[in-house]
Amino acid sequence: MIKVLLLFCGSSSVFLPVMAQPTVIPIETADYAFVLKTDNEQRLNMVYHGAPLRNQKEYLTVSGEYDLKDGNEAGSYSNAYSAAGTYSLTEPAIQVMHADGNLSLDLKYVSNEIKSIGAGIHLISIVLRDPVYPVTVTLYYKVWVRENVIEQWAEIVHQEKQAISLLKYASANLYLTGHDFYLTTFQGQYAKEMQPAETKLEQGMRSVESKLNTRAMLVQSPDFILGVDRPATENNGEVIMGQLAWSGNFKMEYEVDSYHNLRLIGGINPFAATYKLNPNTIFKTPSFIYTASMEGKGKASRNLHDWARGYRILDGNGERLTLLNNWEATYFSFDENKLTSLFKGAAKLGVDMFLLDDGWFGNKYPRNDDHAGLGDWQENVKKLPHGLGYLVKEAAKENIRFGVWLEPEMVNPKSALYERHPDWVVRQPQRPEIYFRNQLVLDLCNPEVQQFVFNVVDSLFTRNPGLAFIKWDCNSPVFNAYSPWLEKQKLPASHFAVEYVRGLYAVLKRIRDKYPKVPMMLCSGGGGRADYELLKYFTEFWPSDDTEPVERVYQQWDYSYFFPAIATDNHVTDWGKQPIKFRVDVASMGKLGFDIVVDRLKDDELSFCQQAVKNYKDFKEIVWKGDLYRLLNPHENKLASLMYVNKEKSRAIMFSYLVDNRLALTATQLPVRLEGLDPAKTYTIKELNLFPGTRTVLNEDLHYSGDFLMKAGLNPHVNANRASVVLEINEVK
Ligand code: DGJ
Repeated sequence: MIKVLLLFCGSSSVFLPVMAQPTVIPIETADYAFVLKTDNEQRLNMVYHGAPLRNQKEYLTVSGEYDLKDGNEAGSYSNAYSAAGTYSLTEPAIQVMHADGNLSLDLKYVSNEIKSIGAGIHLISIVLRDPVYPVTVTLYYKVWVRENVIEQWAEIVHQEKQAISLLKYASANLYLTGHDFYLTTFQGQYAKEMQPAETKLEQGMRSVESKLNTRAMLVQSPDFILGVDRPATENNGEVIMGQLAWSGNFKMEYEVDSYHNLRLIGGINPFAATYKLNPNTIFKTPSFIYTASMEGKGKASRNLHDWARGYRILDGNGERLTLLNNWEATYFSFDENKLTSLFKGAAKLGVDMFLLDDGWFGNKYPRNDDHAGLGDWQENVKKLPHGLGYLVKEAAKENIRFGVWLEPEMVNPKSALYERHPDWVVRQPQRPEIYFRNQLVLDLCNPEVQQFVFNVVDSLFTRNPGLAFIKWDCNSPVFNAYSPWLEKQKLPASHFAVEYVRGLYAVLKRIRDKYPKVPMMLCSGGGGRADYELLKYFTEFWPSDDTEPVERVYQQWDYSYFFPAIATDNHVTDWGKQPIKFRVDVASMGKLGFDIVVDRLKDDELSFCQQAVKNYKDFKEIVWKGDLYRLLNPHENKLASLMYVNKEKSRAIMFSYLVDNRLALTATQLPVRLEGLDPAKTYTIKELNLFPGTRTVLNEDLHYSGDFLMKAGLNPHVNANRASVVLEINEVK
């Protein structure tokens, strides 16, 4: 339960000088508390974070236990939303230029409110106001108590006579105390997304940011893991983990100050993004979403997964379609007959759907490679003379659904769309165009472009009512950032970064208002987009084009810190040298798909895949909706091992992989300790996904207590001949 305490500093028996009454605002979840408190000058500071106190009244006392001297410095260091230009000399969360050109802002506490907005969900709002200029900032904290998740954002409004300029407008500003801080951030490149790096933060500023606009997370990601006092471990210690839910330029700043405390500021990147805000117009920042755990990263991930499935990802607790995709099987080279013959492969495998990828559109400039056609979303009459509708029907004959690829934010200069609407393209009018994958970005700031993108999707669904799925790609970042539409409206060019993303969300909202449930995959040349704002509109995302399965074990592991398996699309492809069993096992730890020519499989490979798809359909609910326990980290071991346990703890699926096969014949001499089971229950073990002609080496008749499996452990007997092992753990009833 969250209460706001208004407490008096003083008592009737002791004389104290009259001081402002401190207000204490605990932002409390089941396992953690962030506590805000006003100081003598009514500025709001973060004074505590950690395990929630039993007696909330004691939050008042807590700040007195910190001996941060130095007059103004201490007060200004720990601000809950530091403003630039007056009392605070630290990195600001907000910086404005008033209508008169003045650069000062002082934010003082005015009031707060708590509303219950659902079972176990609270919305706390705190109003801060400048005593001199009529500028108000309201901080919002939406708290999911049981899931231990906080969504935080700010709303900025003013009543000056003319527009003010927002120079910086962060979503959140945390102030954390601790001996040391260990920060894990994630960097990447094409096909190398989400590479973790953990570093101890030293005094000074570390920032992680994107200036790419679209495909914003190609090289840096707004995801973070923060180990407080010590490096983050899987099962122990204080960990804060989260991301900025924004699909454009972001900036995450981590500054260790002279007290060895950490200021964390996350928001839209202020780079080239000064925003002119008219009077009485609310500017809402994106959400900064985080969880905290006193039991390491494992619990923090389970918090985020429960929250994401329950409240964020579209249809997060629903169904998903297994599929066969044709991208790597055909690239751009296919026609109707080839596709319908591939449908048979999908049916043979037993998957739910066929996904037609890039290359099906464009007539004046056919999309036969990546140089032409983007923007012209009509079926290419040579390749698909009977249109997509025919393919939907042909797929139905094979008892499978049909989905299609789109990249509706983009245009090739070689396209009819570009010729018709050069004014819809993002580029600098006086400079040569700069291409990425031979394409340019459409100006989604422009409502006409938004309407166009909406129509592309809408007409696909209205013309082909059976269409079951969309893969929404976005391959190019923005060069030459410039919106012709903003110029026409006489709006500042520096609104581009914000208005593009708002335009994208506006289109997606319209699509979802009309088509609330149809599954859509978020893809950005691989994993250039994976954020919790876009996942409101998408059922799943594509983590990377890198489907080499050993690499993929690492990658899925690292994405799993933030995203549940139900949202993570994994395809079996021909990348790498691992046998089909290894590839299918890895892809089964998420939403399973295939991108192969089924007819090229040998008989035993095909029957393995068919059985594996059946097994997957039987255990997918546990992988998608159960609790994830990461047991052995591939970054630290020759073996990766993880398991998913259903909420009743009656059934679990454990995956183990050899990721380094040097001297691998005796790779698993030691048992792996399982987690998440009930110590009092009895379980049996069964090996799944055995390749035809092989047998398990485990004794499937043995009964184990949960206690034994979690303390002594179980040896999956992984070695070079058994490089991937899938085990089912079943309660004996
Ligand atoms: C990039 C995606 O990541 C691939 O899966 C594929 O859809 C191509 N684009 C198509 O151009």
